[in-house]
Amino acid sequence: MLGLSTDIGIDLGTANTRVYLKGKGVVFREPSVVALDAETRKVLAVGKEARMMIGRTPGSILAIRPMKDGVIADYEITEVMLRHFISRACGRKVLMKPRVIICIPSQVTGVHKRAVLEAAAQAGARQTFLVEEPMAAAIGAGLDIWEPSGNMVVDVGGGTTDIAVISLGGIVVADSCAVGGDKFDESIIRYVRREHNLMIGERTGEDIKIQVGSVYPQAPTEAAEIRGRDFVTGLPKTISFSSREACLALCEPVNEIISSVKGVLERTPPELAADIVDRGIVCTGGGALLSGFARLLSEEIGIPVHIAEDPMSCVIMGASKIFESPKMFENSLVAGAKSM
Ligand SMILES: Nc1ncnc2c1ncn2[C@@H]1O[C@H](COP(=O)(O)OP(=O)(O)OP(=O)(O)O)[C@@H](O)[C@H]1O
Ligand SMILES: [Mg+2]
Repeated sequence: MLGLSTDIGIDLGTANTRVYLKGKGVVFREPSVVALDAETRKVLAVGKEARMMIGRTPGSILAIRPMKDGVIADYEITEVMLRHFISRACGRKVLMKPRVIICIPSQVTGVHKRAVLEAAAQAGARQTFLVEEPMAAAIGAGLDIWEPSGNMVVDVGGGTTDIAVISLGGIVVADSCAVGGDKFDESIIRYVRREHNLMIGERTGEDIKIQVGSVYPQAPTEAAEIRGRDFVTGLPKTISFSSREACLALCEPVNEIISSVKGVLERTPPELAADIVDRGIVCTGGGALLSGFARLLSEEIGIPVHIAEDPMSCVIMGASKIFESPKMFENSLVAGAKSM
């Protein structure tokens, strides 16, 4: 039963981790980054402060993003990060170790599920439950997934895009492609290097994407200044970068997402596909905020596309609703993926 113990929901994202505390709501959202002393491995900072250090560390400090492509890339650092976030959510007066729900991408391997469960246990969870991200995203976006009709969610995160068709509380068809905000940033970085001979770091790539990134060719053109290092002279240089160029840089990763969505639709039973045509697709995740994304997706597949309200919080809101509703708690967790 949902008793008096502390219940925590964690959306362990590639870019951001969000934490929910039962009775309090979403208590914080922090970048999934840990800064370490390279020699002693002592943790120097976690979250925002550690993110500020990316690309700016001297040799003695490492700023690490332990999640890559939606999965744990560095197990030890993930555990450190989880421990930090769990203790921050619980505060000092923990009487009983918390129960934790962790959101994981659909389609991850059993090995990855066990790694998440193990990391959570090591980080102080008494019991850990797993929920698939698209399921949590759909619940968090307010879709009624318990009805016998088709709902489609496309969660464009930092590392992965999770696509799922859900009906009667279960995932009917799903796919997860390793394209998300990080790939968008990388494409911009590569484009700027190729076309402007300018080297920029990942933080700058992301800033530019958020400022002038666009994937819809007809959108009005905007431009931003980019500062970096000239590839040829080795000296600092500033260029102007337009949303039209961003569009060229981003078309490849965005097309990958569009073809994954098409693939899922092709495998969707016709009755459910008809429901999706009627209701439209719901996009969640920070990547869905990329200018023109929803419009392009909608035109390419011929189905309306809506961006959920506060798309970056849908997954954690879903996890919170699961803890608050015994029915959902019984029915939406990954079967068998529990640790005691
Ligand atoms: N306004 C915006 N325009 C474009 N991209 C954005 C915008 N705001 C945030 N993003 C991108 O959204 C991504 C983060 O989204 P989100 O927090 O949903 O990912 P995540 O949950 O950490 O990743 P994943 O679910 O893949 O593990 C980042 O790549 C960020 O650059
Ligand atoms: Mg996510």
